[in-house]
Amino acid sequence: MTRQPTLATERLLLRPMTLTDAPEVQRLAGDYDVAANALDIPYPYPDGVAGSWIAGHEEGFVLGEMVVFAVTPADDDLLIGAIGLMNIDRRHRRGELGYWIGKPYWNRGYATEAAGAIIAYGFGGLGLNRIYAMYFTRNPASARVMQKCGMAYEGCLRRHVQKWGFFEDIGIYGIVKEEYLAGSAGRDHRSRRTKTA
Ligand SMILES: CC(C)(COP(=O)(O)OP(=O)(O)OC[C@H]1O[C@@H](n2cnc3c(N)ncnc32)[C@H](O)[C@@H]1OP(=O)(O)O)[C@@H](O)C(=O)NCCC(=O)NCCS
Repeated sequence: MTRQPTLATERLLLRPMTLTDAPEVQRLAGDYDVAANALDIPYPYPDGVAGSWIAGHEEGFVLGEMVVFAVTPADDDLLIGAIGLMNIDRRHRRGELGYWIGKPYWNRGYATEAAGAIIAYGFGGLGLNRIYAMYFTRNPASARVMQKCGMAYEGCLRRHVQKWGFFEDIGIYGIVKEEYLAGSAGRDHRSRRTKTA
């Protein structure tokens, strides 16, 4: 069985989470400004939720459905965020990029750096053909991360989800393997067909 790798970037390590990360997940994801911008993060963040979430990561990876990484500085094992690919669909070879970074660490380029590594891993190690990401349109910082990773804006799903009693507009960015490999990501997303490998 393939084990989940650890990915290194210039300043970060992306590694599998362990239960010892649970208190930091609860503290950082439990910040109102993080929870408010992520579809599935509760607020307040109840005891036990982080541990249950982390405990499901290995099975999700083994089943090929998702892969989640702790984001840590390269020289310190302390978790500063989470990133991964969810809703992995083997038939269509696509996955949904998702992430959050703890508020004390915002605007240092960490989400962009981590997302770049996850996109490379998705197309390389996981053999995906398409990676997409969704964000509340009221959250321009997340859209900016997607742009900086070379993803192309694909559209808006109006009032697509509910978050805390409000219907929210969802923006979508995506990137496909051929444009990623050609280095032309984000420039052109006219529809076309591609042959499966
Ligand atoms: C979105 C999030 C992951 C960004 O993390 P980060 O490490 O700060 O991201 P980066 O530093 O790589 O990039 C942030 C970019 O957004 C920009 N930005 C920040 N706030 C912004 C705002 N209010 N309006 C427009 N751009 C904004 C920054 O200037 C930066 O762009 P730049 O490099 O061109 O200046 C982080 O804010 C977060 O975790 N938010 C809460 C949870 C969340 O939104 N998750 C994503 C759900 S789709």
